[in-house]
Amino acid sequence: MTFPYYDIIDFPSIPDELILSLEQIYELDNTFIDQNNKWEYAAFSPNKYLKEYLQDMFDEEIVSKYQVIRKDLPVHVDYKITGVKYNYIISTGGNNVKTRWYDNLEKPRTIIHEVISKPLQWHSLNIEIPHNVCNVTSPRLSVVIRSLSGDPLQLKNKS
Ligand SMILES: [Fe+2]
Repeated sequence: MTFPYYDIIDFPSIPDELILSLEQIYELDNTFIDQNNKWEYAAFSPNKYLKEYLQDMFDEEIVSKYQVIRKDLPVHVDYKITGVKYNYIISTGGNNVKTRWYDNLEKPRTIIHEVISKPLQWHSLNIEIPHNVCNVTSPRLSVVIRSLSGDPLQLKNKS
């Protein structure tokens, strides 16, 4: 399956009251710390209220995380996961933060796509093609979800 680099997705916005502050998020279970550069990238399990809200949008079982990026990320493909990931940015991390996709992981020379994500809207990201995040000047906070399989998610039919 091939996925677009980036797409705006029509999932419902997350109610403000379900989003914790950065301080509160750092108290949650940390599920990923970059071992080489602690805190450059970190992911946390949401509390049950947010987790339930997100899971309730879909029939399929999902994985949800808060994600915090504090510094530019190097060119990478996501660790141990494939497919498509959905991101809802709460704070962008700066005015000009770009997600870029490259032609090559080891020797990234050519940018093949780039985007400045807007906050408070869902978008999908291709995580299998080498990419990075640059121009981060403050913590970039987002909520990230994906299906267990990595396949695209479909909203529940609410009829
Ligand atoms: Fe990534």
